[in-house]
Amino acid sequence: MNDRIRSLADYKAAVEQSTIDPEGFWSGIAEQFQWMKPWEKTLEWDFDGPDVKWFIGGRLNITENCLDRHLEQRGNKLALIWEPNDPKERFVRLTYRELHEQVCRMANVLKRNGIQKGDRVAIYMPMVPELLVSVLACARIGAVHSVVFCGFSAQSLADRINDAEAVAVLTSDGMFRGNKEMPVKRVVDEALEHCPSVKRVLVHERVRWAVEMKEGRDAWLHEELQQVDANCPAEPMDSEDPLFILYTSGSTGKPKGVVHTCGGYMVYASYSFRNVFQMEESDIFWCTADVGWITGHSYMAYGPTLAGATQVMFEGVPTYPDAGRFWQVIDKHGVSVFYTAPTAIRSLMAAGLDHVLPYSLHSLRVLGSVGEPINEEAWHWYKSHIGKNRCPIVDTWWQTETGGILISSLAGITDEKPSHAAYPLPGIQPVLLTTEGKEITENEVEGLLCVKFPWPSILRTTWGDHERCRQTYFSSYKGHYFTGDGAKRDAEGRYRIIGRVDDVINVSGHRFGTAEIESAINTAKGVVESAVVGYPHDIKGQGIYAYVVTEKPLPAGDVKAAENMRGEIIEAVAAGIGRIAKPDKIQFVSGLPKTRSGKIMRRILRKVAENELGSLGDTSTLLDPAVVEEIKEGRL
Ligand code: WT7
Repeated sequence: MNDRIRSLADYKAAVEQSTIDPEGFWSGIAEQFQWMKPWEKTLEWDFDGPDVKWFIGGRLNITENCLDRHLEQRGNKLALIWEPNDPKERFVRLTYRELHEQVCRMANVLKRNGIQKGDRVAIYMPMVPELLVSVLACARIGAVHSVVFCGFSAQSLADRINDAEAVAVLTSDGMFRGNKEMPVKRVVDEALEHCPSVKRVLVHERVRWAVEMKEGRDAWLHEELQQVDANCPAEPMDSEDPLFILYTSGSTGKPKGVVHTCGGYMVYASYSFRNVFQMEESDIFWCTADVGWITGHSYMAYGPTLAGATQVMFEGVPTYPDAGRFWQVIDKHGVSVFYTAPTAIRSLMAAGLDHVLPYSLHSLRVLGSVGEPINEEAWHWYKSHIGKNRCPIVDTWWQTETGGILISSLAGITDEKPSHAAYPLPGIQPVLLTTEGKEITENEVEGLLCVKFPWPSILRTTWGDHERCRQTYFSSYKGHYFTGDGAKRDAEGRYRIIGRVDDVINVSGHRFGTAEIESAINTAKGVVESAVVGYPHDIKGQGIYAYVVTEKPLPAGDVKAAENMRGEIIEAVAAGIGRIAKPDKIQFVSGLPKTRSGKIMRRILRKVAENELGSLGDTSTLLDPAVVEEIKEGRL
């Protein structure tokens, strides 16, 4: 394929062509895929709707491009190297031919269980090969997958299943995580007490736990797979048919289902993957994200398979059996392109070089970072101790909604600068706006990060609520997609992402709305109200700081009472969202700082949490200014 940018000259030419003739640029890239029917028109768009369509009238199946297309040239090439949680367990290797066969079989199982094109299928599975196979199997038959990360609670899973009205759930009996074994099917059972749309549950056996199988609803995947053959023609899909839904948090209470469609997503996932990482045929790629997040969709399930690459999938955690596991796996499988999150880098940096030095890491060629700003210290550590100062680092900025990387240097082609995501990919037109919505055209400025022209994998809607999509992303600044991030642009035009400007916090690269954490906290017995803000955290990037008002004041000095209440709150968050969202700090207060109209002054709470007590700003408009003094004194 020749959508590859191989030099600075190529890059400049691509930037120029994509600006002058975006449709020509993208159709040139799209032509390199296998289409069942060519598209009639490249693009129609209107950000006011929003209404964006790419490759209109085209028909394709993304899995033909991920799998069938490679069989002739790469049938015996490894598609997947699966590394289990326990380093002593055997790893699994699948060639493209084997992966193709497994996906076809799984797709036939889905069909056999009554799942049809357009049906929504929830996937709640740990990082086992069957997860990847399930995702691709849904795509093969045109079912819309909605992967829910296994760290989410039964309640969150139920909300997501109900919002999408999923007809089936694919899951596992349990999961291994470090030295723990955890239930998975049991969480599904609990969720399904509230999910009338689900007719089938297919269970992959991983930990061999005794699980309850509900007659008429539940079946074991290994038994089902014996009933089918490996012949499953790919379902023809319209370019704009939905491919998947992925739920993500926003500033309001309820997570929204971001919808990506078949044609545009395929083109952009592949284009961005190949170019950002400068993939070569012999590379071994490893993305450490979970398939439950967008990174695991675009740069595990789809990007690498579309490119015919070999990739590693890891079931475990970076610190098991010790903090050298990532580096051990890199040496073991000869990983050449490694893509992880700043939070992981910081925690492994904190574990000390003793865990790095035993490994050679000589196979590495390119390093990547994603999910949150990478601080300079972590960047330099990554560069020198992991990349041995010979691997370029790509700091990739993007979002669930963008479907793929929008801002990043291209490994070894465009320059890099610590803490800077750097340049937009050719075809991407970001702008910085003032809060009044005026475009800032100079450099060395700061503003709100927006995009003024569509790219193929921009979100199309939020499931079941198009108005919400319009309101959230397209209504703040007319004619622009608003990212929710603030950014700076330096003298050379490199972007540096500062972080969210809305009520969203980024904890270890995962996004949570403060409102959803508050609603979970408020379900705890004895809680009247709460306010949640983010604060700088050494490892997680941002930590969760909760201010909580209780019904009865906690007796001063009664450590036990406060501990119990904290426990209740953490359990409430674990049940409502999942342990991943549990507050790091909980401060009990007698009231929250509110304006006379009852609005919580989060700015003040944020400043206190950040320990910037000197710059609280004007507090005279508060209903009860005295509460601020109390909050300052009780700061944790
Ligand atoms: C938010 C999107 C994109 C996959 C993982 C997160 C932040 C993401 C970077 C980066 C600074 C980053 C932004 C963005 N973010 N990558 N390289 N530098 N910030 O996906 O859950 O949709 O979150 O993550 O704030 O808006 P997500």
